[in-house]
Amino acid sequence: MELTDDERAMLAGEEGPAVQAAMDLLVRYGEALGADRFVDTDNVAGVPGMVNQFLQEYYADGGAASHDEIFSRHDLDADETFEVPKAKAKTSRLQGFVEPERWEEHGTDPEDARLDRETEAFEANHDVEILKTCTPYHAGNLPSYGEHCAWMESSAVVFVNSVVGARTNVEGRESTSAAMLTGKIPDWGLHREENRYGTHRIEVDTDEAVDSVMDWGMLGYFVGERVQEHKPVVVGNYGSPDRIEHKHFGAAAATSGGIELYHVVGETPEAETEEDAFGPNEPEDVLVYDEETREEVYHELNEVGDDRDVDFVMLGCPHYSIDQVREVSRLLEGEQLHEDVALWLFSSRAVREQAAEEGHVEVIESSGAEMMTDTCSAMSQSVPPGTDVVAMDSAKQTHYLPAFLGVEAWFGTTEDVIDAAVTGTWDGELR
Ligand code: F3S
Repeated sequence: MELTDDERAMLAGEEGPAVQAAMDLLVRYGEALGADRFVDTDNVAGVPGMVNQFLQEYYADGGAASHDEIFSRHDLDADETFEVPKAKAKTSRLQGFVEPERWEEHGTDPEDARLDRETEAFEANHDVEILKTCTPYHAGNLPSYGEHCAWMESSAVVFVNSVVGARTNVEGRESTSAAMLTGKIPDWGLHREENRYGTHRIEVDTDEAVDSVMDWGMLGYFVGERVQEHKPVVVGNYGSPDRIEHKHFGAAAATSGGIELYHVVGETPEAETEEDAFGPNEPEDVLVYDEETREEVYHELNEVGDDRDVDFVMLGCPHYSIDQVREVSRLLEGEQLHEDVALWLFSSRAVREQAAEEGHVEVIESSGAEMMTDTCSAMSQSVPPGTDVVAMDSAKQTHYLPAFLGVEAWFGTTEDVIDAAVTGTWDGELR
């Protein structure tokens, strides 16, 4: 790779051994990718130095490894342990596995809960913003158009690439931790203009325009499954998607497939026209999403639903925005959950705090539901004890939970799943 003077200086150890190891890791990574150079980044989202019992034991040969030890040896792939300096690039902490207040309800081992608090203190001491969410863009970190970022978390990556026009690949823990210390990431993949053009044309030809969170989620699920890791360009019969509809479309497309960037013609910033979206590319394939396909996707998402007696409702995948919390608060006002149903709603800490100030936490929790942060059922791999049947408004979570936890799942609108929480019975249908 061609290095600039500051990159060469970091690699030579002029900013200390940890930055040197970070630069060394990034050079090896860039070379493996075939990148020629780095771009500067001042927006990193990762899990720097995150510790659990396994890592602690693994790196300490039976003792307890320090955070510096795990950061050096695991995050930076170094053979020695360094004192880790503060972040050079602005860095946000993504979601984890532990609910900070209700970890016992999630069945989290007390030692893992303690290590999570310790990790958070380590990160805060290194100037990492503790957002603890998969939606940093709802919690104060919204990149700008064209900004080079280094983000983990597939649903956040596809959102900022597609909806905002920022530039990031789906990075890993190691590359984000190295980027945090250096402010560099290989100039490869979606950082480069030529890789951002569309490859597949998706024609939406449904009877009614795709114009709801559920419909955008289903369309995203279809697109991911069919397009896999390419770049879809959506044209046809849809309304103007808002941030929440985009969030559900992208999260679903990054779950059934590996979509990191999509274009919706007339809606996303790099797709004012179809010509802009495809640039020099000819579509490799044209896929039609019509009424029949829509029904197939709905049935596919609901195929592991059989028993209509719902035990658990999970909301907040990806983590809810304040507008979504307000909607749930409106739907639950004056209601009580069915005695056999639990409802967990996940958001970032920032959104929960705002919701508390606006009185929504009280309304929601008075119904028997709980508002949680930092994690979700898929990440913590937990649902309330005795859960057999779950209802969700997220195609992504509906894809994951049955596979992770062997539960039955129903997918529908937010209204459908709240109705199931109150009545105890699934009554959703494709409308
Ligand atoms: Fe977020 Fe968990 Fe969904 S981390 S995107 S709520 S699977």
